[in-house]
Amino acid sequence: MNLSLPSSLSVKDGHLFCGGADCVELAEKFGTPLYVTDELHIVENFRRYEAALKQYTDKVQLLYAAKANENPVIMQTLAAEGAGADVFSLGEMQAALDSGMPAEKLLFNGSSKTEAALRAAIEKGIKISVDSVDELRQIDLISREMQKTVKIGFRCNPEIDVPTHPKIATGIKNSKFGIPAEMILDAYREALSMEFVEPVGMHCHIGSQILEVEPFGIACGVIMKVAAEITKLGVKLEFVDFGGGLGIPYHRGEEKDAAPTPEEYAAAVMPVFVAACEENGISPAFWVEPGRWMVGESTVLLTKVNSVKKVHKTFVNVDAGFNLLIRPAMYDSWHEVMVANKADDEDTGVYTVTGPICETGDILAADRKLPTVAAGDLIAVLDAGAYGYAMSSQYNSHPRCAEVLVRDGQAELMRRAETYADIVRTVVIPSWHRK
Ligand code: LLP
Repeated sequence: MNLSLPSSLSVKDGHLFCGGADCVELAEKFGTPLYVTDELHIVENFRRYEAALKQYTDKVQLLYAAKANENPVIMQTLAAEGAGADVFSLGEMQAALDSGMPAEKLLFNGSSKTEAALRAAIEKGIKISVDSVDELRQIDLISREMQKTVKIGFRCNPEIDVPTHPKIATGIKNSKFGIPAEMILDAYREALSMEFVEPVGMHCHIGSQILEVEPFGIACGVIMKVAAEITKLGVKLEFVDFGGGLGIPYHRGEEKDAAPTPEEYAAAVMPVFVAACEENGISPAFWVEPGRWMVGESTVLLTKVNSVKKVHKTFVNVDAGFNLLIRPAMYDSWHEVMVANKADDEDTGVYTVTGPICETGDILAADRKLPTVAAGDLIAVLDAGAYGYAMSSQYNSHPRCAEVLVRDGQAELMRRAETYADIVRTVVIPSWHRK
């Protein structure tokens, strides 16, 4: 099938290339399974997204959603471009700071933060998106004890339906995230009364892999109404953060996903934001937290065919499964697959690509038209850069695979493959098991 490939990929002499490097050669050199990322694709994405928003106002800050792919090298690439980060844990906070992102450009998010993580954020001067009044009161106690002012915003749940998988819709009425708009004024009032807590922001995130821009515009309208009300309470807004969520076209065949561009996103959201700011005489910075859009299309997962089995259907048994890419098993997500060493061949059959995991659900791609596949061939799973390696596991004692970074055809490891020793590194033998 003819797929419309992302600009990170190309085909030459029957081989798939990523970032200008031959995937077949990469698999031979570094082994499989293997994640391969085109660095410049990420750089271009960042610049394009930022430029689209800056058409409307200069006060824009992109906070890369670290959870999508927190490889420290990718974080560094984005830090060098001026990105901040949406961080969801102590680990992501550390990764962002280590990559060179300044504390002012980070927002610590999450609905269930530990005291240790709250302390670390306050200590380092990182702003916190507060998810409940209970959490606010804990922050009050900690900041008073530390005698250190902390800047916060509340995560507002705009309660809108979004067209995406229910497991990744986060701004709906029954979501675990955020505080409903009708309850949030009291939360800001309480924060304003606290000695070391300075409410300066607002945050929302309506969901992920959203392929329409209208919901973002609607959410912006809801949030800016609240922004106007909290301004009247005396809050001096420094930022409003609209979260991430812009989707990418995972379907690349005849029925290609109609994925909106950052320019379309900006056109739906920014006029609402700018008009509300003018109307209310406020000038907060526009913050946004794209994850998937920054990195999703930059990466392929290369996986070798161990065997092909013809039974009631034809299974292609590969060496990567939901241990390395859980999205198809978890969200029924679609990822295109190609035979990387036969990229120019005509499709001859229908194949189901399955991993090595001992579960029926370990299917990377079901019923796909592909050229004739045989043991030893190399399958490329496309659009694996977001929530791929980041959600991987060592299930069935499979060490995680290596990650390679490509820049203009030059390819080097950015993470080595794990070995069995890595899997058992943290195991401790209880005394009665020692001889
Ligand atoms: N900001 C917040 C507060 C978030 O919770 C998320 C994603 C983002 C930003 C980034 O969203 P993005 O731009 O990547 O859509 N594992 C799922 C996606 C989970 C998204 C969780 N939150 C998947 O593989 O589809």
